[in-house]
Amino acid sequence: MSRDPLLQPYQLKNLTLKNRIMITSHEPAYPEDGMPKDRYRAYHEVRAKAGVALTMTAGSAAVSRNSPPVFNNILAYKDEVVPWVRRLTDACHDHGCAVMIQLTHLGRRTHWNKGDWLPAVAPSHERETAHRAFPKQVEDWDIVRIIQDYADAAERMKEGGMDGIELQAYGHLMDQFWSPVTNSLEGPYGGSLENRMRFSFEVIDAIRKRVGDDFILGIRYTADEDLQGGITPEEGLQISHRLKETGQIDFLNVIRGHIDTDPGLTDVIPVQGMRNAPHLDFAGRVRREVGLPTFHAAKIPDVATARHAITEGLLDMVGMTRAHMADPMIVRKIKEKREGDIRPCVGATYCLDRIYQAGDALCIHNPATGRELTMPHEIAPADVSRKVVVVGAGPAGMEAARVAAERGHEVTVFEAAPDAGGQIRLTARSERRREMISIIEWRMEQCLARGVKFNFNTFAEAEDVLAECPDVAIIATGGMPHTDVLSEGNDLVASSWDIIAGDVKSGRRVLVYDDAGDHAALQAAELIAASGAHVEIMTPDRSFAPDVMAMNLVPYMRALQDKDVRFTVTYRLKAAKRSGNMITAVIGTDYSAFTEEREFDQIVINHGTIPLDELYFDLKPRSKNLGFVKQEALVFGQPQPLDANPKGEFALYRIGDAVSARNTHAAIYDALRLVKDI
Ligand SMILES: Cc1cc2nc3c(=O)[nH]c(=O)nc-3n(C[C@H](O)[C@H](O)[C@H](O)COP(=O)(O)O)c2cc1C
Ligand code: SF4
Repeated sequence: MSRDPLLQPYQLKNLTLKNRIMITSHEPAYPEDGMPKDRYRAYHEVRAKAGVALTMTAGSAAVSRNSPPVFNNILAYKDEVVPWVRRLTDACHDHGCAVMIQLTHLGRRTHWNKGDWLPAVAPSHERETAHRAFPKQVEDWDIVRIIQDYADAAERMKEGGMDGIELQAYGHLMDQFWSPVTNSLEGPYGGSLENRMRFSFEVIDAIRKRVGDDFILGIRYTADEDLQGGITPEEGLQISHRLKETGQIDFLNVIRGHIDTDPGLTDVIPVQGMRNAPHLDFAGRVRREVGLPTFHAAKIPDVATARHAITEGLLDMVGMTRAHMADPMIVRKIKEKREGDIRPCVGATYCLDRIYQAGDALCIHNPATGRELTMPHEIAPADVSRKVVVVGAGPAGMEAARVAAERGHEVTVFEAAPDAGGQIRLTARSERRREMISIIEWRMEQCLARGVKFNFNTFAEAEDVLAECPDVAIIATGGMPHTDVLSEGNDLVASSWDIIAGDVKSGRRVLVYDDAGDHAALQAAELIAASGAHVEIMTPDRSFAPDVMAMNLVPYMRALQDKDVRFTVTYRLKAAKRSGNMITAVIGTDYSAFTEEREFDQIVINHGTIPLDELYFDLKPRSKNLGFVKQEALVFGQPQPLDANPKGEFALYRIGDAVSARNTHAAIYDALRLVKDI
């Protein structure tokens, strides 16, 4: 029996949890027609199999029709959910993993233009900044119906084989009643704390009556809204005690903060560059003072911090949620004393940001997450060992090398720079985005452990590749910044990457022109603004930096808004002209013939990259497949055909930005899905 505190069992009422690690509720937006079907089940099953003790499924599964999903949530108000839930719970139980589900009514945190177009309801008319619906103020019959809905949904979950449920009470209807900021009701459900909690007590009573005493019922709630006029830590503790006093709540899952704005949400769920485990001690205080079983998650990305949380008695169960999206095998690797092999969560929060843009949750550097039905988390060895040459050690090249090495191939990598990393190495130069380098470092360690040979400072030409006599050559040479977008004056501009790399010094009065909309423009702007310069960030789009997305935008805004920075949307930089020491920017718009001229001493352009593909085209005639990739084979996981050129010597593939400018996830996914079948 292991002495590791993380691996000790925990008795939660009548349920034995086999260790102290859990996945907290998070909706990855994988439901199909509101149901947790095969993709959903496969996602949880792989984590259950790898040893996590408890997986809290769903996130905000809707108990009522007028709580329409904001990010493709499970519709717990439909009876047809039961058999799908049963398949999910059976699959997890087969591996000894406990399964629960989070139920909620979103209140005003949704929009009336979703689902059945019913008005959102809340204890006040005030809208939530993030979701924008002006809600109807709840009336008596809404309350009666919603309480009933909670009980019905809880019963469905019990019938589906869930070990328990968790009520969501941070930013949703339940705590919209609690918080003075969102409750303007008078009478039984407004005013005193007792009144503001009445709705929750009635829900809890109704659920208990329906599911009985043995079924586990917990609550994930804000014990400190950290918001002007909101629930204070003192009131949060009172709430915690009152929940305990009901005698009906089996665990507390502690949240600190408010989620009604993007910055608020980001403080609750910190992204990269923000402090690890910022609310852990607070959760520990709640545990100490209230004495109920206590769970908590918020950027506890590494095993050492998780272990500390248990050893110090701060938590009973420690949530490692994004960490499990990055690596489902955490518990297995702890047990096998392979903690160093855990693929680190780098806090990029690509996963969460995507669901707020109507996407599904995908991990920036684990493309198998959410694709468990088609992509492996563990790479199977190949039947035949091949000689694989990879050119370029950016994210695509490093993933190709890792996967090829895991397949048992003999792998050689050429890289022109002195180190691996490509654009990620540059990105990670900013202190705030330093965690990104783990994407490369983890792959480097995996490669070195499997004997991959690296040739740095080597700008590989065709003959270098041919000299290796490869069976497979993979070109992952990335791209060069593309700034050639003006009708005049392209020679007068710098690229965002020039600034990030430190190759070009910041000017004093700078126009950052961004029509790519990704991180590079804001990252360059942040560096320029920090030097004390005036920066104007201009985009022809309706909003700036659309690909950065909501939570990732928060640290940028915090770094930019207190500096001399302005944002200009819907204007297009057309040309640049030298005028003495300055550069005249000719600015127009796609909306009219309007133009104006303004002066800057530096213009920085962010317009993606142009593929560095010369080597690929040099090698193409000598390859067996003439570079051809059969897309169906790629998508459906079959070997690639190699019969295009009978005289060819090797298979040739091109991946990542060497094909076209995309993002880190796309580059790594390109590599995984190609190389897993080589
Ligand atoms: C894709 C995604 C969806 C989430 N959805 C929910 C949700 O519906 N309900 C909830 O309580 N928390 C949700 N969360 C928050 C997580 O439960 C967790 O609190 C958060 O990710 C911080 O923990 P971590 O740092 O271990 O990831 C979500 C997180 C992610 C990544
Ligand atoms: S996208 Fe980033 S934050 Fe989300 S799981 Fe992956 S590494 Fe972690």
